[in-house]
Amino acid sequence: MEIKVVSGDITTIPAQAAIVNLFEGVEQPSGATGAVDQALDGAISRLIAEGEIKGKLNEVTIIHTLGRIAPARVVVVGLGKQEDFTLDKIRGVAAGALRRLRRIGVERVTTITHGAGIAGLEPEKAAQALVEGSILGLYEFRKHVTKEPESGEIKELIIVERDESKIPALERGCVVGRVMAEATNLARDMINEPGNAMTPTDMAEMARKVAAEWGLEYEVLDREQMQELGMGALLGVAQGSRQPPKLIRLAHKGGGEGALGILGKGITFDSGGISIKPAQGMPEMKGDMAGGAAVIAAMRALGELKPLINVTGLVPATENLPDGAALKPGDIIKAMNGKTIEIESTDAEGRLILADALGYARKLALSPLVDVATLTGACAVALGPVCTGAFANNQELVDKVIVAGEEAGEKIWQMPMYEEYKELNKSDCADIKNSGGRNGGAITAAQFLAEFSEDTPWVHLDIASTSFSEKEGAYTPKGGTGVMVRTLVNLALALSRERG
Ligand code: BES
Ligand code: MN
Ligand code: ZN
Repeated sequence: MEIKVVSGDITTIPAQAAIVNLFEGVEQPSGATGAVDQALDGAISRLIAEGEIKGKLNEVTIIHTLGRIAPARVVVVGLGKQEDFTLDKIRGVAAGALRRLRRIGVERVTTITHGAGIAGLEPEKAAQALVEGSILGLYEFRKHVTKEPESGEIKELIIVERDESKIPALERGCVVGRVMAEATNLARDMINEPGNAMTPTDMAEMARKVAAEWGLEYEVLDREQMQELGMGALLGVAQGSRQPPKLIRLAHKGGGEGALGILGKGITFDSGGISIKPAQGMPEMKGDMAGGAAVIAAMRALGELKPLINVTGLVPATENLPDGAALKPGDIIKAMNGKTIEIESTDAEGRLILADALGYARKLALSPLVDVATLTGACAVALGPVCTGAFANNQELVDKVIVAGEEAGEKIWQMPMYEEYKELNKSDCADIKNSGGRNGGAITAAQFLAEFSEDTPWVHLDIASTSFSEKEGAYTPKGGTGVMVRTLVNLALALSRERG
């Protein structure tokens, strides 16, 4: 989809559809919607008076203009109550209108920037959200479907602005919005790929391509290098799989001292291993690399946006399968930082591979650290599909992560890290065990990771329930959501601004 910003009057620019908007309760539209209403001899205000247009959030009304103005159709989208309006609503509204227009075969669309008028949102941010919602909402994963799609394709989205002085800001917002959304869609693609098409080797290959295209540093550690570094935890999980494990490193050099480290769990399929999972729901475990996908995708966006900060992405990638050589419950392994781990469950594999990724991040002196992982069913039980769980050893850092999430339209809820939870991970025969049991399972998993982030400022984001959606959302189709890509990018941008 081509997206551009033009200055002018939406009633005079030819298009198959022109999108305008209305807040709930407004009887006499103003701004661009008012101009369209006038050009159509009050067609919109009449529909409002008759109660057909209410302005309710995500309401879409299509009016055929029959040659009276340049666009063939006017689409009035409801923005809901003005006092409840946010940037995130712009994403959903844009997505809803475009999905509807795609279904009826519309290809060329003009739109105004919702929220930049009477709602008073910053034009740059409003344009960014509009573009994000448009690209994210139209996402489909059809790579393995050979049948022709029933719906068409929106080929051109033209953002029309009457006030010429706002154009540069809108254009800046469009650029950032496109980068954010395309990176998110890259993560979605990786998550939606089945396990046989997104092996650890495939993930590394994807990272290599991203690095080559966007000028990132790329390195991948193989089994031998992991052995030399003493990564017994990552190797332990990998020993049950025919697929060679990879520890992927991408780096953006933005200048200055130090580097933010972002880490993502890359289990390309989680069967549970010898502690095998029930068959029901197991296909979803192809998405157990969503954290790793988010990291690779965020690195791509950073390669495009080039903030003045160093950022390194690390993705430990392996399958978790049962096999004659697989890790067994009761086994004891040693992580890179020297700590020994008793395997209580081979299904608690995410924390094992992250233990060594955290160890490697510390060896590289990355700080602060943020990891993203589909880590526990317990986090999904606690928070449901609405928000991602955050766990931290540093309050200042987690506060920044939560704000970065708010800007991205990604909700994050902080969970407690009381010392007492550590007790539950105690082992009789090793330094720690890899499961603290069912109760408080998301927190004991985080406390396990804390043993490996040690004294480096660190935040852990558990995306077990937010990485994969069972229902279509406002701008998220079913399947991989690409959650935390935009949060990670926003965090890096915020930290780079802080450095000045
Ligand atoms: N990948 C799973 C967690 C998960 C579950 C993600 C459902 C997405 C949806 C993780 O590796 C796992 O199996 N965790 C176990 C830990 C337990 C054995 C301590 C779990 O949550 O049951
Ligand atoms: Mn598991
Ligand atoms: Zn897992």
